[in-house]
Amino acid sequence: MKLLLTGGAGYIGAHVAALAEREGHSVTIVDDLSTGIANRVPGPVVDINLASPDSVEKLSRLMRDTEFDAVIHLAARKQVGQSVQIPEQYFLDNIGGLANLLLAMRQEDQQKLVFSSSAATYGMPTLDVVDENYPGVPINPYGQTKLIGEWMVKNAANWGLRGVNLRYFNVAGSESKKLADTAELNLIPIAIAQLKRGEQPIVFGTDYPTQDGTCIRDYVHVEDLAKAHLMAVDYLDMPVQEFATFNVGTGQGASVLQVLGELRKASGIEFEEVLADRRPGDPPRLVASTDRIEKIFGFKASFGLKEIVKSAWDAAN
Ligand SMILES: NC(=O)c1ccc[n+]([C@@H]2O[C@H](COP(=O)([O-])OP(=O)(O)OC[C@H]3O[C@@H](n4cnc5c(N)ncnc54)[C@H](O)[C@@H]3O)[C@@H](O)[C@H]2O)c1
Repeated sequence: MKLLLTGGAGYIGAHVAALAEREGHSVTIVDDLSTGIANRVPGPVVDINLASPDSVEKLSRLMRDTEFDAVIHLAARKQVGQSVQIPEQYFLDNIGGLANLLLAMRQEDQQKLVFSSSAATYGMPTLDVVDENYPGVPINPYGQTKLIGEWMVKNAANWGLRGVNLRYFNVAGSESKKLADTAELNLIPIAIAQLKRGEQPIVFGTDYPTQDGTCIRDYVHVEDLAKAHLMAVDYLDMPVQEFATFNVGTGQGASVLQVLGELRKASGIEFEEVLADRRPGDPPRLVASTDRIEKIFGFKASFGLKEIVKSAWDAAN
């Protein structure tokens, strides 16, 4: 297959690209390198800022030059806190970028799209596991851009788009040092960076209604997530797509203290975590129901928390 990956020089995109190439597919990467790293990927990176108005023409030209079998759209800004500070920029980049991509796809009759969505679309769910029908209300502009993105993908079915929204839960781990997550935005990379600086990891909130009082999340290995993208592309080849939206997680929750316990083992460092107050906007528990993706794609995560944390530690050292 010929695949077009936007955001392919990013942490997740580079894993999708690497897996696709190992499986014999050809990959073209579009990325403005705002947070991406060109040498994460072997081939050239086509430098297009999807949010700029001339991107429609540039993307159309690219699609005319190569007939792609599918587009995987990962390019986006993803910092929740920053999205609260500069919401306009998030709407411009995440919504505007997707709108430009869809315009080009429509113009060039390019019909298959996999969209990187997020569990941030669920906001503050109150269920033990959230399924795709849960009427989530995102609580920050980042999550809002992802939910609106899903609506855009659904609406584009009117002109013939076949689209899949993948709602990623907490993505972590790495297949190699080269593809490591270098952004200090999520618990595992933040804690690893703190340990490397000789600091102690901080736990925000120890009085949540969970077994050890710390927040519970569903950690999915980035290599498993990469597999889900190729399965999603195959799904779009089926004559009928019953569902447009799929959770990608493991269905298992791990608390902050459990993650740090694994990090203690992986690093061999006997650290003491610093216990701090809750941060606003952290749901106590966010764990995926994986029934749909298991049933429809046959997807089951193959890596657990131990492998996720160990691979992240090894990639950063
Ligand atoms: N990392 C996670 O835990 C997580 C969870 C849920 C959803 N997601 C989503 O997955 C996708 C990939 O995330 P990631 O962790 O690899 O982040 P990343 O920042 O490493 O990758 C994003 C890539 O998109 C590129 N990009 C950003 N804006 C662009 C634009 N306007 N034009 C062209 N390229 C642009 C960046 O340069 C970067 O290479 C994002 O859409 C993100 O919202 C990530």
